[in-house]
Amino acid sequence: MEKMLTLIRTLPSQIEEALKTELPKIPDNIKRVFFSGMGGSAIAGDIVRSLLLDSGVEVDVIRDYTLPPYVDRDSLLIAISYSGNTEETISVFEEAIKRKIPSVSISSGGKLKEISQDAGVPHIEVKGGLPPRTALGYLFTYSLRLLAPLEGVSTLIEYVRGLPEFLLSLQKELEDEESEARELADRFYLRIPVIYSSSRLFPVAFRWKTQINENAKAFVHVAVFPEMNHNEISGIKNPEEKVEMLWLVFLRDEEDHPRIKLRMKLTADILRDSVMGLTFVDSKGRNPIERIFHLIYLGDYVSYYLSKYYNEDPIAIPRIDILKERLKK
Ligand code: F6R
Repeated sequence: MEKMLTLIRTLPSQIEEALKTELPKIPDNIKRVFFSGMGGSAIAGDIVRSLLLDSGVEVDVIRDYTLPPYVDRDSLLIAISYSGNTEETISVFEEAIKRKIPSVSISSGGKLKEISQDAGVPHIEVKGGLPPRTALGYLFTYSLRLLAPLEGVSTLIEYVRGLPEFLLSLQKELEDEESEARELADRFYLRIPVIYSSSRLFPVAFRWKTQINENAKAFVHVAVFPEMNHNEISGIKNPEEKVEMLWLVFLRDEEDHPRIKLRMKLTADILRDSVMGLTFVDSKGRNPIERIFHLIYLGDYVSYYLSKYYNEDPIAIPRIDILKERLKK
């Protein structure tokens, strides 16, 4: 069995395992939550942010070196780096410790674990040896469960309990010879995928992009509604022979704002003749978590099938590794 496919298949069991692990308790008075992370680790924070948009808790994700001054002691900082060695994440985490911001770290080891132990900061250890982007089940479930005392989170955790079974049934569909995932990979091959979603579902669109980038080594563009209606809709015109190579995907969710639903339909009508083609993809599932993970899992499979078309090893990320090596010098 191909290694990446085996890893993609572990998403449900990761979630199941991460639901059982005992986690540290966070302080009672938390008003805001900040995640610090990059790439495949940061996406867990993005999904939590999106799920808590309608709750009273502000959540933000910091993908940078510095901790903004408005992060105060009523905030919680969750530093996630699968390897534990990502310099941006470490830099924010060290600043949080210096400023005595309540913090928790999540990693499979590395410097993040060491720093946490030295500073007496709670640390959650994730199973090691995986490419970070394939550890989403662990990273997401731990992140959400940490926030269990906050408003609205316990219902979401209940939804997560049903997620492994839902994902297992999806697996069968997505691996079928005629699956939507294989069809999309076929559409994307030798074209430029462009992924659109509402801004609430941006983490999903962004996960499609990062998975296609890293697994298939292919270029992708993402943008969100309604903002793209105010600029990008004009730009999908020139240079004509390049725009003709675009394949647009509109990720839709039943909870999208009614005006966004209408905007997507009208935008597709306007752009249809300028591009190679377009596909509407509707989320499915019994609750917001299932719907988000349906789309994420679909995108993961699309990126895997596309890696086969391009004859790329979906595990290897040589450019990211080379860059990290050069930065060490
Ligand atoms: C590799 C991957 C990358 C890493 C990123 C940060 O699978 O997905 O995007 O996640 O380079 O590294 P970590 O996650 O170790 O902090």
